[in-house]
Amino acid sequence: MGPLLAIESSCDETACAILSTQGDVLAERLVSQSDHAAFGGVVPEIAARAHLALLPDLVEETLKASGLARSDLGAVAASTGPGLIGGLIVGANFGKGLGIALQKPFIAVNHIEAHALSARLPGVFEGGLAFPYLLLLVSGGHCQCLAVEGVGRYRRLGGTIDDAAGEAFDKVAKMLGLGWPGGPALEALAREGNPTAFAFPRPLKGREGCDFSFSGLKTAMARQLEPYGMEPLPRELAADLAASFQQAVADVIGDRVTHALGMMERPTALVAAGGVAANGVLRSRLTALAQAHDLPFVAPPLRLCTDNAVMVGWAALEVCREAQSLGVPLPDDRNTRPRPRWPLAEMAQRFADG
Ligand code: KG4
Ligand code: ZN
Repeated sequence: MGPLLAIESSCDETACAILSTQGDVLAERLVSQSDHAAFGGVVPEIAARAHLALLPDLVEETLKASGLARSDLGAVAASTGPGLIGGLIVGANFGKGLGIALQKPFIAVNHIEAHALSARLPGVFEGGLAFPYLLLLVSGGHCQCLAVEGVGRYRRLGGTIDDAAGEAFDKVAKMLGLGWPGGPALEALAREGNPTAFAFPRPLKGREGCDFSFSGLKTAMARQLEPYGMEPLPRELAADLAASFQQAVADVIGDRVTHALGMMERPTALVAAGGVAANGVLRSRLTALAQAHDLPFVAPPLRLCTDNAVMVGWAALEVCREAQSLGVPLPDDRNTRPRPRWPLAEMAQRFADG
């Protein structure tokens, strides 16, 4: 098929990567848009405009770094959902345009599917990761457990009924007067604090299934902060609150993941992806948990855990490979539209329809 160029633009990362047919990364470029910090969160309209401004040069730079000519490309892929629709339209149209100009197929990639398959990228797990595995996806926009049973075969075991895990970190960090994104700042502060200083609730802990809930934790934090009004918090107190909150989150995620493992038959590994998977306390909890189940804990390196174009390219390659092995035509998605919502349950159709 030839090397594949992939684009990611579903949230606030503008990214491009070129992968060989085997999945080796020939070049990659990524810009994390920083304009949103002043607003304390991603502003969709600003993100879409930034993608539009950044993407043409980024693609050009990536091509140059790969040493390839456009005509060497065998296919183009882009995240076309789920995500912020403005950015998705920019990335999808750019990718489709390039594909049409080069007379090469365009592959529409489901962004969650890309996260789900990223643990199978060459070099992430020695010998390559086999199906089925449990994926915990914890980011600013997602919080779910998925049984990854094959390419196109994803079973959602449970997910958040209110906030995503990263969203909870960001909101609580804001309450504590930390910057955005709040997760890394909160983790840094928590290092100075006592994780047992405050008894925060453990929402849904012990409950059947593996749904998550974080809004009660947020409310509990707000209650703790009430007496201080607008006054700045003493640092020691803020650190104790941060550490106790982080502990509660790690605890509930650990509990929910234990349940999720029980919902799968012989998983090969516990995999974590998404920005929150960078959290050290959570990672050690998940490592211990996997060990107790005699499973490896696999987390792609951080730059592949957060949004990136390498995983988009890899997912496109996996889809092509699966199509080939099933004897159905390779996808050409130039007529598909970007979708703000795109349930993973629909991914199997791609192969069923031929
Ligand atoms: O996957 P990601 O980069 O973007 C999407 O949301 O798609 O995840 C960003 C989220 C933010 O909410 C951020 O606060 C959180 O991941 N995060 C963390 C840490 N690093 C990033 N949360 C907790 N601890 C961290 N070290
Ligand atoms: Zn993502």
